[in-house]
Amino acid sequence: MTSEHLQGFATRAIHAASPGNPVTGAVIPSIDLSVTFGIDAPGNPSGGYEYSRVGNPGRDALQHQLATLEGASHALTFATGLAAEDALLRSLLRPGDTVLLGDDVYGGTYRLLTGVFGRWEINVVTVDTSDLGAVERAVAEHSPSVIWLETPSNPLMTITDIAGVASVSGDAVVVVDGTFATPYLQRPLSLGADVVVHSTTKYLGGHSDVMGGVVATNHGHIAEAVAEHQSAAGAVLSPFESWLTMRGIKTLALRMEKHCDNAEAIAQALDTDPRVKRVLFPGLSDHPGREIAQAQMVRMGGMLSFELASAEHAHAFVTATSLFTLAGSLGSVDSLVNHPATMTHAALEGTPNEISSALIRLSVGIEDVEDLLADLNQALDAASSH
Ligand SMILES: Cc1ncc(COP(=O)(O)O)c(C=O)c1O
Repeated sequence: MTSEHLQGFATRAIHAASPGNPVTGAVIPSIDLSVTFGIDAPGNPSGGYEYSRVGNPGRDALQHQLATLEGASHALTFATGLAAEDALLRSLLRPGDTVLLGDDVYGGTYRLLTGVFGRWEINVVTVDTSDLGAVERAVAEHSPSVIWLETPSNPLMTITDIAGVASVSGDAVVVVDGTFATPYLQRPLSLGADVVVHSTTKYLGGHSDVMGGVVATNHGHIAEAVAEHQSAAGAVLSPFESWLTMRGIKTLALRMEKHCDNAEAIAQALDTDPRVKRVLFPGLSDHPGREIAQAQMVRMGGMLSFELASAEHAHAFVTATSLFTLAGSLGSVDSLVNHPATMTHAALEGTPNEISSALIRLSVGIEDVEDLLADLNQALDAASSH
């Protein structure tokens, strides 16, 4: 174990990023925009690089930073979260294979698997991954190659016992999409998952200004297959996006603490508000996954969902907020509100996993919480009197 692995999270987030320039003394790493790198002789790259699709110093630096934070031996970054998912799935699956998919996952993941991979003879079976008995039965019945889950899930905030799923997974590769929690709050590999993926577009980048995705694992053979795909298919993260993401990650620890503080306060306020039907947040005492969340997460994160009386109320609410921007992403310093049924999860319409149109999802930012509470209060008034 190197001394780097003994340091605290915030220290690693800052120091595992690429060092500055020893020649100029710059404390911030440069961005190597070069597409190609001169080599000494064919097959002998002097500086370790030949062509930026295959490898770039900035992407390597970010991959090292992410692997260090995730407790992984390998991390590979891609142009978006879905590009990372696509590369991983193509590396793990063969026609005829079955994927056991959590019944509450990002709509784009569902669409990728059922739409794109469905055309290549991949079977998708959905299961409530928070029910270990159901997972065990589905593994026995379908012998899946991959079990794919989110915890907390998007948008229902369901908590899955990662170690529990790993213990009943049979031969399947267990993949956790950890986008909502980030490695600051939860490290799935240490709980028995084989692979963790993130949309780095969200909390890791953290400012709604750069897209990206990562696959991290301790399995060399999986990393090798994904790296081959990364190089062969080429949906890589660019040098500038790698640099921006690396910069964002340096403040992840600070940002996540404030996201958690604000989300806790908002969940408590909504939970006791008679205008709100129910609140889904693992930090609330009546959340069914609370105990598991407390055991496998450091804090509960900045995401929460809640339900109003009807779709009409929800529509009036999401068009009445002002600090919470109605937008389809999450994990940024600025607060966002989302209507999953018609936005992020529209792909689920008409399926058994369709999201209620009375449900609203909040990505709680790091603004002053009193201002956020005031904005939510006036939007609830607007929804009640619509
Ligand atoms: C949980 C989760 N996973 C994956 C993705 C896909 O990431 P990207 O938009 O970077 O492709 C998203 C996007 O919203 C997400 O919320």
